[in-house]
Amino acid sequence: MFRVLLIVCGAIGIAVGGQVLADGKAVYDAKCSVCHAAGVAGAPKLGDKAAWEPRLKTGEAALLKSATNGKGAMPPRAGQNVSDKDIKEAVEYMLSKVK
Ligand code: HEC
Repeated sequence: MFRVLLIVCGAIGIAVGGQVLADGKAVYDAKCSVCHAAGVAGAPKLGDKAAWEPRLKTGEAALLKSATNGKGAMPPRAGQNVSDKDIKEAVEYMLSKVK
């Protein structure tokens, strides 16, 4: 019973809190992994250091800009309604896996 309550409260919390609750991994899993888990359309894979190394050199700000404005086959904001804060957290999460 407690478990059910917890889930219900959690669902309400997500509905009310919206994107505030989303941390980088959650955003990545929901919005970015579609392409970045398998490397769809040439997307650099999560944790693939060789693929990320040349990109890391351009700096986090430039990578964030690519994710926000789109680059190559990647649509702006992953083609979805992702807030600036969520994109930043997702990029930070992705970069944390290759640093
Ligand atoms: C539709 C597939 C797709 C989705 C969804 C997607 N990406 Fe990408 N992403 C790509 C591709 C393809 C590239 C390589 C672009 C290139 O270098 O031409 C890329 C590159 C990147 C880069 C490197 C940019 C650079 O300047 O080298 C970052 C950072 C990135 N994605 C972050 C994200 C984040 C964060 C999300 C989720 C909010 C996301 N991506 C969702 C396809 C995707």
